[in-house]
Amino acid sequence: MGDILADGYVFVTGGDRGIGRAIVVKFASSNFNVAFSYHRNRSAAEETLKLIEEFGVDGFYIQMDVADAESVKRGFSEVSMRFPYLNVLVNNAGIVFFGTIDETSVEDWRRVINVNLTGVFLTTKFFLPLLRKASWASIVNIASIAGQTGNVVASAVYCASKAGVIGLTRRLAVELAPKIRVNAVAPSFVETDMVREFIDTPEKRRRVIDLHPLRDIAKPEDVAEAVYFLATEKSRFITGQILGINGGRFTC
Ligand SMILES: NC(=O)c1ccc[n+]([C@@H]2O[C@H](COP(=O)([O-])OP(=O)(O)OC[C@H]3O[C@@H](n4cnc5c(N)ncnc54)[C@H](OP(=O)(O)O)[C@@H]3O)[C@@H](O)[C@H]2O)c1
Repeated sequence: MGDILADGYVFVTGGDRGIGRAIVVKFASSNFNVAFSYHRNRSAAEETLKLIEEFGVDGFYIQMDVADAESVKRGFSEVSMRFPYLNVLVNNAGIVFFGTIDETSVEDWRRVINVNLTGVFLTTKFFLPLLRKASWASIVNIASIAGQTGNVVASAVYCASKAGVIGLTRRLAVELAPKIRVNAVAPSFVETDMVREFIDTPEKRRRVIDLHPLRDIAKPEDVAEAVYFLATEKSRFITGQILGINGGRFTC
């Protein structure tokens, strides 16, 4: 059972690396007990766990495939055995596909939709009982600017999956109110493995920086700060919102 002196209980999907890791660290360093999932990268999960050890909160990871209902149900059971309830669910796990519609196979389409959109549905659906047990609870989904604009690099399927997450966020905000708030963040480029190939030379990096009026690229910590704000009581009267973390970029 988690440390009852902590401020609450959090679960983050895909918390082993990238944006998810920054979110896990942010909550742990803010005195929340944090469970997170990885999919294939157990060594990254182990590293993340080490990073949060110093904060003295209850932290652990589970293996879970968000696209697989049985795996999500198992994940729910594992988290339920350690945490009495959840205050915060962060649906962060995601994959990307780059390419035109001609280059997108039916299999590519299904894979991206299954992880990015169905994964948010499954995790939310099966983890709701733990959120409903808490005295306050909220869900933050990681959408993308790609779900808001016709994106220059992301594929149609990635854009569609993230637009779907935005629709799901808005509907669930109404459906789960007043007990549970539901918001999303919509980042532009964030420095992670997902977009590494677009920023791995000074020239490519410059091109990405120049897309943003604030002339920079977001760090995972920039997203984590916004997620923390939307998840916690500081934003208690905010629900159904999509917060852009895009350095002022709002075109494709
Ligand atoms: N980076 C960006 O520029 C950017 C911009 C906008 C939105 N986003 C969104 O932000 C979220 C995090 O992205 P990131 O940049 O941090 O990506 P990342 O570094 O590639 O990490 C992806 C995470 O998702 C997990 N994952 C992948 N497939 C999964 C599955 N089937 N089931 C469960 N977990 C799975 C991975 O687990 P393993 O490590 O075990 O594989 C990993 O933890 C994603 O939803 C992404 O679409 C990213």
